[in-house]
Amino acid sequence: MLRFVVVSFCLCFYAVAPFLSSITAGEVITCSGMVPMRYRNDKISIADFGGVGDGRTLNTKAFHEAIYRIEHLKRRGGTLLYVPPGVYLTESFNLTSHMTLYLAKGAVIKATQDTSNWPLIAPLPSYGRGRELPGGRYISFIHGDGIHDVVITGENGTIDGQGDVWWNMWRQRTLQFTRPNLVEFLNSRNIIISNVIFRNSPFWNIHPVYSSNVVVRYVTILAPHDSPNTDGIDPDSSSNVCIEDSYISTGDDVVAIKSGWDEYGIAYGRHSSDITIRRVTGSSPFGGIAVGSETSGGVQNLYEITHVRFRSQAPAQGL
Ligand SMILES: *[C@@H]1O[C@H](CO)[C@@H](O)[C@H](O)[C@H]1NC(C)=O
Ligand SMILES: *[C@@H]1O[C@H](CO)[C@@H](O)[C@H](O)[C@H]1NC(C)=O
Repeated sequence: MLRFVVVSFCLCFYAVAPFLSSITAGEVITCSGMVPMRYRNDKISIADFGGVGDGRTLNTKAFHEAIYRIEHLKRRGGTLLYVPPGVYLTESFNLTSHMTLYLAKGAVIKATQDTSNWPLIAPLPSYGRGRELPGGRYISFIHGDGIHDVVITGENGTIDGQGDVWWNMWRQRTLQFTRPNLVEFLNSRNIIISNVIFRNSPFWNIHPVYSSNVVVRYVTILAPHDSPNTDGIDPDSSSNVCIEDSYISTGDDVVAIKSGWDEYGIAYGRHSSDITIRRVTGSSPFGGIAVGSETSGGVQNLYEITHVRFRSQAPAQGL
């Protein structure tokens, strides 16, 4: 959280707001058109793959098999994976291209709290190491690498990271590697995340990195104010990111725009650009909207941050 940068956003916000309010009267401006919503004819349910929403059964195999089916059967127009009402406990899983993960009303995808088998992946080249600790990092709970045309949506079902075990390891200094993000897209494009509730992420909530054309809309992101580093949305070395109409209340930044870390970020040289943040409300113990902490690769063309309202416990940093 770099205080001076956040202050410069305040100036930008106040300078731009009167102009925008005059043109928004009566008509809602949105950037979400950059990724058109995809409706898919082929639909499968996690229940068809043995998924059980009793809150106790581990559904890792069901998610892996359902997504393997989507990846390998390649239906025209992609496939929608339906998660019915119920609580689906699972280990982390990877998404694939041309899929929609659809959470029904009352559906909860819940991360296991068994951290001992949590897979590790390589550090990001623009960080050079894990953000918290040297070496690799735990894979995000829901992960996508090198994929496109992906939607996570539904009727405001919940993705629950059950992060308290991770927060406690951080507090007790027993973490071995960097904590998992809740949802991460790496090297990906044409992504929509809408109408989903994110709860209790182990670390950052939504992390698009080296990605482009990402729309995050109508999401609710919740974590306790004392949960460590539970940033809401962190566009990182990414371009064309549209964040709108969301409520975010966590233990760290509401939105933090990044581009790597220190000399690794500079060497990797991939900036964040064209990030739009509109009609986002919430509360944060820190900066709300931050361009900081890790921006070594540069940040360009942040052409709009507007209609953002939140309550900060650190008044000097509030918008
Ligand atoms: C998920 O993706 C990661 C990173 O691309 C890969 O290392 C891992 O093996 C994948 N996991 C599965 C179960 O396919
Ligand atoms: C889901 O939440 C969004 C954002 O809070 C809201 O606009 C929308 O009406 C809700 N949809 C349903 C189906 O409840």
